Amino acid sequence: MEQTENDYELNGIFPVPIYRAYRDSDLDTTEESEIEDIFKEGMFNQDWIDENEFYYPEGKESSLRFNSTSADQYIFNTKLKKIKQFCEKHIKIYVKEVLNPKHEGDGDLYITGSWLTKTRPGEYHHPHNHNNSIISGVFYIETLEDDRIYFHRLKEVNEWFEFEAEEYNPWNSSSWFVPIEKNNLLLFPSWLEHSVEENKSTKNRISLSFNTFARSHGSPKLMHHRRLQEAQHQQNEK
Ligand SMILES: [Fe+2]
Repeated sequence: MEQTENDYELNGIFPVPIYRAYRDSDLDTTEESEIEDIFKEGMFNQDWIDENEFYYPEGKESSLRFNSTSADQYIFNTKLKKIKQFCEKHIKIYVKEVLNPKHEGDGDLYITGSWLTKTRPGEYHHPHNHNNSIISGVFYIETLEDDRIYFHRLKEVNEWFEFEAEEYNPWNSSSWFVPIEKNNLLLFPSWLEHSVEENKSTKNRISLSFNTFARSHGSPKLMHHRRLQEAQHQQNEK
């Protein structure tokens, strides 16, 4: 604990990890064409689902408010291998630094879903988190000027009480943004809510998101969960 000249000290506990890695190269031509192919295969948009079908064809996106994701929700299975390797390398470091698992195999996280997100001018992404995932990541392919991602404090904490602050700081804020740039990778706990404000530029913002899960069920909590699943499975077989 840091001792100051004051007769008190203020420390934080349970900080939320936001991990950032920097890829030192831009997309190569293969990656550029793979990304183009992914977008051509089809896009998925919440606005469009409400009134229409699952996919929307090219050229139908002009009235949308929410951003769109690639119809292919497992892009790393077939494309962008080098970006996948870069993400996997940093997931390993995050696991070691943040989770620091005691048992071999516990930190063996693998990427589950992976998809592209396109935010066109006028579109935004509402606050959300990622279910069924341990660590989530975003790799930035095209960013805007002063681009940022907002993270949101847990709703339970926000609902406790809130004063208007003289000046906002990490203690009294219900959301906090971090600046992002092209070729950055951010990793954070999947329970953490995040959002993207409206794209007020004339450019598209393109990012790649993914989720992870554990191969091992080593921790007592997960073991318990697994036993429940097994019990349920046995029940279903009867
Ligand atoms: Fe997200």
